[in-house]
Amino acid sequence: MALRNVRIYGDPVLREKAKPIQAFDDSLRTLVADLYETMALYNGVGLAANQVGVAQRVFVVDVPHEDGTHDRFAVVNPVLTERKGKQKDEEGCLSMPGIAEEVERALVLRLRGFDEHGQPIDRIVEGFLARAVQHETDHLDGVLFTDRLSPLKKQFLRRDLDALARGEVPHGYHPGEPGRSE
Ligand code: NI
Repeated sequence: MALRNVRIYGDPVLREKAKPIQAFDDSLRTLVADLYETMALYNGVGLAANQVGVAQRVFVVDVPHEDGTHDRFAVVNPVLTERKGKQKDEEGCLSMPGIAEEVERALVLRLRGFDEHGQPIDRIVEGFLARAVQHETDHLDGVLFTDRLSPLKKQFLRRDLDALARGEVPHGYHPGEPGRSE
C-alpha cells in the first residue's frame, strides 16, 4: 500500500471521464488499498480514482453512522438508478480544500456495481451514504460538486477556485485535518 497525491482543482484529470475497469486484478486491488489509505489520512468519507490521478471507474467510501458503525467499501463501475426524494446538506471535497457549500442530492437511490474482487453490488443507499455515492460517481464523470451550485454561488466561489487552480492551497490544510470531505 502507498499514499497517493490528492489532485487539486485545476488538475485536468479531475475533468476526465474515467474509463470502465476491465479486469479485477492485483493492480485494481492495489489502487483500492491506496485509495483507502489516502482517504483515511485526510479523514475523508470518500475518494474517487481520478482524485489520485487515475481515470478509472472506482471509488471508496467510509461513511460513519450514529451508532458508531461505518459503511466502508469500494465500488467499481458504479451505476446509479431509481433516485428518489431530495436532501440538501453541506459538501466538501478533498480536491477543493477550504470550499464547502450546500448541495442538493437524491435522498435514496439504487447502487449497482462490483467490489474490488468482482463480486456484484446491488443495494439501496440513502442519506449521507447516498450523498457520498453521488459525489464520488460525479468525480468519475469529471463533475465536481461546485458544478451543481447556482450560477450566483459559483460566482462567489470563483476567486477561491481560481486560487486553488493556481496552486494556492489554503493555509493550514494538511493531511489529517478533521472534516468530512469527499
Ligand atoms: Ni470530492
